[in-house]
Amino acid sequence: MADKKAQLIIEGAAPVELPILTGTVGPDVIDVRGLGTSGHFTFDPGFMATASCESKITYIDGDKGVLLHRGYPIEQLAEQSDYLETCYLLLNGELPNAEQKAQFVSNVKNHTMVHEQLKTFFNGFRRDAHPMAVMCGVVGALSAFYHDSLDINNPQHREISAVRLVAKMPTLAAMVYKYSMGQPMMYPRNDLSYAENFLHMMFNTPCEIKPISPVLAKAMDRIFILHADHEQNASTSTVRLAGSSGANPFACIAAGIAALWGPAHGGANEAVLTMLDEIGDVSNIDTFIAKAKDKNDPFKLMGFGHRVYKNRDPRATVMKQTCDEVLRELGIKDDPQLELAMRLEEIALTDPYFIERSLYPNVDFYSGIILKAIGIPTSMFTVIFALARTVGWISHWKEMLSGPYKIGRPRQLYTGEPQRDLTALKDRK
Ligand code: SDX
Repeated sequence: MADKKAQLIIEGAAPVELPILTGTVGPDVIDVRGLGTSGHFTFDPGFMATASCESKITYIDGDKGVLLHRGYPIEQLAEQSDYLETCYLLLNGELPNAEQKAQFVSNVKNHTMVHEQLKTFFNGFRRDAHPMAVMCGVVGALSAFYHDSLDINNPQHREISAVRLVAKMPTLAAMVYKYSMGQPMMYPRNDLSYAENFLHMMFNTPCEIKPISPVLAKAMDRIFILHADHEQNASTSTVRLAGSSGANPFACIAAGIAALWGPAHGGANEAVLTMLDEIGDVSNIDTFIAKAKDKNDPFKLMGFGHRVYKNRDPRATVMKQTCDEVLRELGIKDDPQLELAMRLEEIALTDPYFIERSLYPNVDFYSGIILKAIGIPTSMFTVIFALARTVGWISHWKEMLSGPYKIGRPRQLYTGEPQRDLTALKDRK
């Protein structure tokens, strides 16, 4: 792993030799753990050039637009697999055989209900609270219910916590929605698939149980797959950092949900629909493109750009295909927001500003149009993202805890006041 070396020449100090580590694929890394002896830190706000850990879960090649989960391309998983199979793959490293898959699916089904008392937590929220605020609260509250599986050093506890979180997130997400609607919460059903069950809990009521459209369930399942994991993004890094202190898995996932909420991250899917509404008509696109390019205007084209992808986000391509399928299935022709989104993409991708900065549509650009077509309100979009990403978060949490790790504790470049003595209040000007 470390047969190459880098030499750091620091003026007035002895050269520092640093090992270069090589992974399976992707850039080599310079191991700076030994840099402390030189009296220097590395400085990399936003971690633009920093590998925070070693991982075997997901690989992204931003230049080629490649996304692999345990080596399998996202396009193949989206086309040939399903979400629970992808969960098994992310959690265990290999695709399940038929017996392993049946056992995993059954295990998840048997954990979809939440403690009946958890319902009372919702009453503390206003009905018009943002769903992500409620999700942060109720997922964190799971720590108060599952005392029997909080020993993070116990592999069985880690396993049952992972299954409980994957199983309960759809139930909690649907409860959040029902609470906001003032409708009774629906219990999960074991005779439905994971995505069917979620749509059942979201849209059925005790008065009427309608069958779930298989096309919408398939689209929902595919959206879950496309959001399942994405290497060391902001929310996954948050979960790893929280987990490195020994915090319990439910608290770590609640931290991930909070980080995901931001419009620069998972909140972008909701922001895309808000932006399309604000643009309103194709005739206004040029005005908004100009705003996005104006350094003095904080407006960004939501759903465009990515820290890693400097080519197309492969998930956006699959999402666009799914979007076409769902709208066709629903008989929605000429959806004005889809038309607007496609025109916006066309115009932006011919503009030198976007081309020079490799700003392409990302996973969030088309997902909102599908979710809206399925009937999910915009305020729930990031909750769906959190639901799907939970398996990625908990897979990284498990991976970190399954081997040697240290508490994450970055240092800083201090540019504040040098040491000085305190002046008594009576003497201060
Ligand atoms: C997700 O990390 C992940 O993997 C995240 C994610 C996952 O699955 O976990 O993929 C999910 O979060 C996708 C991204 C969703 N966010 C958005 O769509 C919000 C809009 N996008 C931007 O905020 C931005 O592109 C980021 C946050 C996604 C990436 O920001 P970076 O890498 O810090 O890049 P940057 O902001 O420094 O931008 C580089 C340049 C800047 O211009 P210059 O200073 O070089 O002149 O590009 C410009 C930026 O101003 N730019 C944009 C833009 N995105 C970047 N200009 C207009 N519109 C945009 N959307």
